Parts: sequence; structure tokens; C-alpha cells
Amino acid sequence: MVGRARFELAVSWSQTRRFTGLSYRPRFLSRLILDRLGPVSKKVSESDVHIRPMLEADLDAVLEITNSAFRELVERTTGRRHDGPMFASGLGRYRLSLDPLGCHVAVRGNEVVGANFSVLRGRLGWFGPLAVRPGAQGLGIAQLLVQEFVRSAEARGATLMGLETIANSPQHVHLYMKLGFRPSWTGISFRREARPGKLSPGVEVDGAVPELSYAYPGYDAANDARATRDTNSGVSLGYRDGFAICHTVSTLWADPAIAYVPLIVAPDRETFDVLVRAVESVAREHGKMRVVTQVPGSSLATQDALLEHGYETGGAALRMKRGESLDYDAGPFFYCDDWH
Ligand SMILES: CC(C)(COP(=O)(O)OP(=O)(O)OC[C@H]1O[C@@H](n2cnc3c(N)ncnc32)[C@H](O)[C@@H]1OP(=O)(O)O)[C@@H](O)C(=O)NCCC(=O)NCCS
Repeated sequence: MVGRARFELAVSWSQTRRFTGLSYRPRFLSRLILDRLGPVSKKVSESDVHIRPMLEADLDAVLEITNSAFRELVERTTGRRHDGPMFASGLGRYRLSLDPLGCHVAVRGNEVVGANFSVLRGRLGWFGPLAVRPGAQGLGIAQLLVQEFVRSAEARGATLMGLETIANSPQHVHLYMKLGFRPSWTGISFRREARPGKLSPGVEVDGAVPELSYAYPGYDAANDARATRDTNSGVSLGYRDGFAICHTVSTLWADPAIAYVPLIVAPDRETFDVLVRAVESVAREHGKMRVVTQVPGSSLATQDALLEHGYETGGAALRMKRGESLDYDAGPFFYCDDWH
């Protein structure tokens, strides 16, 4: 797998540029990034590493790096070995389809040594999973990747950015604080057995995406819906002004038994309840017995609602943010949103 991925990546930059039609000069970009970083990237020089947009040809290597970096992290922090992949094989294809300009790789020589995915929803952007090959860590590569996420998201109008990370890791908190993110929020996992049932009248499958600015000004989930459809990962569900995405082919964790719900946004409890039952019904239709989602720690009404629906809480992640309206998720709407 590693050998094959490396072989595929041994294409020259001029070849990859022809694949995509991108007019893009990596050395120039590296210079830009290094100029902006100032003291951040003292450990890698321009000639060592450059950051460029992720390509489909990178995806095998990216998945291998992401799995090996996270497996090594789990083993180092818990003492437990994780055999097999941690992330779904469809992660890269889905996220590259969702936001190709927000996915980046770090390249040293001809080898991809780091990768970062991100999602931009109008003016709100978040990134992850971020990973650097274990043998290339500690050189400032993650900082280059995150800096490029910030540049790209800002250039495309993002006013609020975030990530989820490990609360009890000084390394992670230091890394993201250095890049301007504040560690003041959480994201809490919720899951339950999917209840069978019919879709309520009025629920639209893969229909138009409603206006979601009541969650955050300019919030736009149209790309989530399009990428879900284009990669056959699941469906989007609309009901009145509410919206949900349900993935029956996992786009995050490797566990094939779960339906993964990256997003539910609803202006009121009734709409939220209809969408929660709708994602469960879609899950069951596709033979998935459990539904997994993530809720901002500030979205208290959403957590109460899910507990009333019989959901159980799992782990919590530290959520870090920078930008405007940092506490938007405490607003009077219902909101499941996974920033992994
Ligand atoms: C986390 C990860 C992406 C960082 O990548 P990296 O390229 O090694 O990171 P960088 O070299 O850019 O920066 C690491 C920073 O943390 C600092 N650091 C390292 N260990 C530390 C510790 N124990 N306490 C505090 N800071 C620490 C480094 O000194 C450096 O900061 P500095 O430039 O101010 O000196 C990488 O270790 C990885 O892939 N880990 C496994 C997957 C993972 O955890 N992904 C992120 C999940 S949110």
C-alpha cells in the first residue's frame, strides 16, 4: 500500500498540473506561505517542503498517512495498538469533492508527508483530519498546512474558523493557539440505535438546500449536499427551513455499521425532531443500526432534545475557534455539526 502510494505520487508536479488544469506555482506559493508565517516555520525551509492543493492521485497516500499518524497517536497516548484503518476509505474522495480548494498536502521531494482536509460553508470554515507522517513530525509541517487552510478560507470569505482536537494534549493546544485559535469550546458525540419509521410528510430527499443564515450569517451547506450526492455517500434531507445530511456510506470513521450524520440544522424543535427521525429512518433503510453525530457543547437545547430522543453521549473533543461570532452555536436553533 505504502509502496503503491509512493509510486503513484512519484509523478512530477508538471504532470499533476496537467491532470487538473491548475495554473499554480508551488515555489511561489511556498514563498507566500513562508512570508506570512514569519517565525512559525523556522524548522522547514522552502526547498524542503511545499504545500499544494490535494489531488485525486494523492488520496491513497493521504489515507495511509492519516491512518498511520492517528494510529501512532492512539498508541502513544493510550498504550493500545489500533490494528486496521481508523478512517473510512471514502473520506478523501468525499472531502475532495466537497471542498477541493480547502484540501492540501505537504510535499517533501516527491513524497507527500502531510495532509489536511477542510470544509467551507459560506462564511464558516473548519479543518481536519490533519496529519503528518510520523517520521516527518516536529518540523513545522502542520503549521504550514493550517496556515494554508486559514489563507484559503479567508480568501474565500470565511469570517469564522475552527477545528476539533484533543483537550489533554499540550502539543495540540499549543499548535493551534500559536495559529490564533482559542480553546474554549467542546464538541460532544451523540449516538443511538436507529429507529425504523417512514419519512414524515414534507421531508424532501436531495431537494433544494434552505437558507441557513439563522445559524451563522452566510451559512451555506449546498456543497455538502452536492458532494453527498456526487459520491453516493448518502442523502440530504430538507424539512421546512431545516436541513440534514445522512451518510450511509461512512465518510469519516472506518466502522461500516454506523450511519454518520455530519450535519443537522433546524430553526425550531419540531423541525429538528422530524429531521432526527428522518436520518434514523434513512439509516435503517440502508441496513445501518446506529446513528452517530456530534453536537457543539454550547448547543444546549440540541443536547436536551437528543437525550429526550434516547441518544447517549460518547466522548467530547476540544473545539477551538478564531474569527467573528465565536459563540454563534449557543444561538436559539438546533444544531448537530461534526468538525472532525
Ligand atoms: C499533530 C500533528 C499534525 C502535528 O504535526 P507537526 O508537523 O509535527 O507539527 P509542527 O511541527 O508544525 O508543530 C508542533 C508544535 O507543537 C510543539 N510541541 C510538540 N510537543 C509538545 C508538547 N508536548 N507540549 C507543547 N508543545 C509541543 C512543537 O514544539 C511545535 O511548536 P513550535 O513550532 O512552537 O516549537 C502531528 O503530530 C500528527 O499528525 N499527529 C497525529 C494525528 C493528529 O494528532 N492530528 C491532529 C488532530 S487535531
